[in-house]
Order: sequence, then structure tokens, then C-alpha cells
Amino acid sequence: MEVIIKEDYEEISRLAAGIIAGMVRRSPRAVLGLATGGTPVGCYRELVRMHREEDLDFSQIVTFNLDEYVGLPEDHEQSYHRFMWDNLFSHINVAAANVHIPDGNAGDLHEACNDYEMELDEHGGVDIQLLGIGSNGHLAFNEPGSSLGSRTRIKTLTERTRQDNSRFFSTLDEVPKYCVTMGVGTIMESGKLLLLANGGNKAEAIAAAVEGPITASVPASAIQFHPDVTVIMDRAAASKLTREYHSQPHFLEGDKE
Ligand code: PGA
Repeated sequence: MEVIIKEDYEEISRLAAGIIAGMVRRSPRAVLGLATGGTPVGCYRELVRMHREEDLDFSQIVTFNLDEYVGLPEDHEQSYHRFMWDNLFSHINVAAANVHIPDGNAGDLHEACNDYEMELDEHGGVDIQLLGIGSNGHLAFNEPGSSLGSRTRIKTLTERTRQDNSRFFSTLDEVPKYCVTMGVGTIMESGKLLLLANGGNKAEAIAAAVEGPITASVPASAIQFHPDVTVIMDRAAASKLTREYHSQPHFLEGDKE
């Protein structure tokens, strides 16, 4: 596992975007696994800048998002469909037909989750998966206790997650209680994992995920099983880590070729 500690959010975002851009340039048909929440916004901003100023081309890129709330209309300002179009897709040349986001409004959610897994399979799986981490150690919406072998399915959000996400809604009551999320097992099949964390409220979860035992009580700790993981965080998120880490990747992406 490559653990990189940067000075601030801008540096995290630039490095993460650089790694994703490296994948897009090397593999123009790559499958990107994308995340929502406060953390990836800066990374998406940087990817948009690279598209505009450096001709970063997403025209053949395929995307799969991690999760979605159940029951929020797609055009609701807090739906993850809306988030992705507002923060990234509307500003780059991705083809709408290549975008996949779990459907939280499907008539049969179980079937929709199984279909999502099949579609992912048909595209050969995710090449690089961007991830955040919950303050409770969740990975996507795989809350503590989620099976480390789980697949895309319906989950109940914990009170902690609903509280954390209530900052995006007017009241806590408006935060949905259910979600659909890729499973930990689904995420672990990605070619590469890129986990970002920012701020002191992530310090405990990061320490548990990176240095703690692998346990379903901290679903993000499953990343320790993955052969190609990069975790990028700021000093506040790193404040409870005890081992020695670096401020740069071992190789910059281009160097690997
Ligand atoms: P955040 O959420 O980026 O909004 O902090 C991350 C997560 O819940 O996984």
C-alpha cells in the first residue's frame, strides 16, 4: 500500500487527478470508478481543468459510480446523479451512454443491483477506483459490519453517516435512510484503488483502515488485501498514523511506462 501525506486539500486533489489523468492518457477506453461526497470535488475540478487546458480526452472513457441514495429523484440537488453531472460530467467530453450510476429509484432495487454488477462485468471491471472514507470507516456506503465479500446491494445508512451527510441537506430528516452501493467485494476487484482523505474527522478511520486489523467493523480496512492501493491524505487525516510515510508516490505515473 502506498500512503502519501500531502500538505493540503489542493495538493491531494492535484495528485489524485494526475494519477487518474495518467490512466486516461494511457488507456483512452479505461473504466473509471468514481465517488461522490466532499472529498473528490477538488480532484474533479482539476480533471475539468486538464480537459479544458490540456486536452484530456474522456470521449471513450466509461464510468461507474460507487453508490446512490434510495428514493431521491435523479434531479434532486443531493442525488449522486446530479452531483456527478454538476461536478464533472457536464464539464468534460464523456459520452452520456458511457456513464453508469446505481439507480436508487428502480422499481426492483435488487434486480437493478444485480444488473449493475453484470454491466460492470461486461465492461471488464473498473480499472481505477476513486474512494473516500467515512468517519466511521465506511467504504462507499458499506457501513461497519458490511461483509468484506459483499456485492452491489441495498444498505441502511447508519446514524453517523446520516449526521455526516446532513450538512448537504436542510435537515437531518431529509437525509435518505437507504442507499444502493457497490459491495466491498465489488470494489476489491478494481485494478487499482485510489483512496483520498482530508481533515481531522477522518484521522481515526484512516488509522484503522491503514494500520488497524482487517475487519468488517472497518470496511475500508479491506484495502489492505488489495495489491495496488494508493492512499492520499492531508496531515490532519494522517494525525493518528504511527508508521513512517512519504510525501510523493514511489513513481510518478508516467515513470511506470
Ligand atoms: P466525504 O464522504 O467525502 O463527504 O467526507 C466520504 C465518505 O463518506 O465516504
